[in-house]
Amino acid sequence: MKKIILVTGARPNFMKIAPLFFELLKHPSEFSPMIVLTGQHYDRSMSGVFLDDLKLPSPDVNLKVGSGSHAAQTGRILMSFERVLLQHRPDLVVVVGDVNSTLACALAAVKLKVRVAHVEAGLRSFDRDMPEEINRVVTDSVSDLLFTTCEGGGQNLRREGHSEEKIYFVGNPMIDSLLRYREMFLRSRVLEEHGLSEKEYCVLTLHRASNVDRRETFQNIMSAVKCIGKQIPVIFPVHPRSRRMLAGIGLEKSEIILTEPMGYLDFLKLEESSKLVLTDSGGIQEETTFFKVPCLTLRENTERPVTITQGTNRLVGLNPQVIVREVEAVLQNGNRDIPPPALWDGKASRRIVEVLANHRGLLSAGNGSGAVDELHLSQREEVPSP
Ligand code: UD1
Ligand code: UDP
Repeated sequence: MKKIILVTGARPNFMKIAPLFFELLKHPSEFSPMIVLTGQHYDRSMSGVFLDDLKLPSPDVNLKVGSGSHAAQTGRILMSFERVLLQHRPDLVVVVGDVNSTLACALAAVKLKVRVAHVEAGLRSFDRDMPEEINRVVTDSVSDLLFTTCEGGGQNLRREGHSEEKIYFVGNPMIDSLLRYREMFLRSRVLEEHGLSEKEYCVLTLHRASNVDRRETFQNIMSAVKCIGKQIPVIFPVHPRSRRMLAGIGLEKSEIILTEPMGYLDFLKLEESSKLVLTDSGGIQEETTFFKVPCLTLRENTERPVTITQGTNRLVGLNPQVIVREVEAVLQNGNRDIPPPALWDGKASRRIVEVLANHRGLLSAGNGSGAVDELHLSQREEVPSP
């Protein structure tokens, strides 16, 4: 029996671990999955709602690390997760995406010689100013198994010198979730709740540090949004990072509908039924590609170029005039109808579990003792703090 810890911490992690968790449960004699919640996100609207919407059980462990600077948050996760590893002795730790929880848990595991699988490996924006890019590069460099969502991911990893036998192109687990919960999200009443009509509104999400931490940048984006709001209703579920910046912007109710961050099912319904999406999110670039909903990404680069070459996404940057012009073009021209990228078919988690079931390294583990390197720990002396 292989004990597998699935790590989730921030909003975009939940929908990536859920399909994998349920796939592992189909093999009870082979796998025993457990969920560790880091608590990087902790508001109900950023964490608990996803456990409910995705029908996940309560996490086995909650590290409750909360917010902090990058070092403080990453450090707290490292220290708490090391204790979890020593107590539970897993055969494998699965981390997803590119958040601080991903990096910290991968690092804690590899230092104790516990194998690590990174789901959504190989994505690169080539922009080291993004904290997520550092998390991606470091996580990939310490992981034993690299599961990619697109051909480009594998190419980036090979270019960086990762060995071929670690890389598996499995497809996109976010799309597994989107398809798995489709019947449920189609029943959402979110449009009625906000007085919106199918394909007659625009969705906005913003949370990237480079867009929402500096008042001037945020104000520039919002000046474009005010203009757009005069042409088509805009609904903006506000990420907590953007909340404080809204004070003083002076938005009119007629220009924009502000809401709390939405649950997963409501948000998917909102996304699929929209005329277009304006965002700086990574996952939303992928979901809109699958839905064939036009997406304008308010960034200069993307780690998900497949959503541009094979999807509905366009990078529009941060110039308000350009943003407004691009929105007008979408309103006039409508959608591009192209098939989704390869292996975005709802079966990525199944492919991952097949790899895990047949993997030589993992087969040799699984004797219940876990792989934790206790020798390493016993040789360390506790150094008192200065
Ligand atoms: C994090 C990820 C980012 C991801 C995003 C998804 C990192 C470095 N960043 O960014 O890659 O795209 O999540 O949403 O891992 N806050 C609350 N309540 C919460 C959580 C956060 O109020 O439940 C506030 C706190 O003031 C906190 C701030 O939001 O300081 C930022 O949270 P943090 O987790 O550090 O980064 P995100 O911007 O959410
Ligand atoms: N999402 C949600 N409610 C919202 C906004 C986003 O459920 O109000 C979902 C969205 O459908 C996608 C994921 O959250 O599945 C994307 O997370 P986020 O944009 O926070 O992070 P990123 O993908 O940029 O790392």
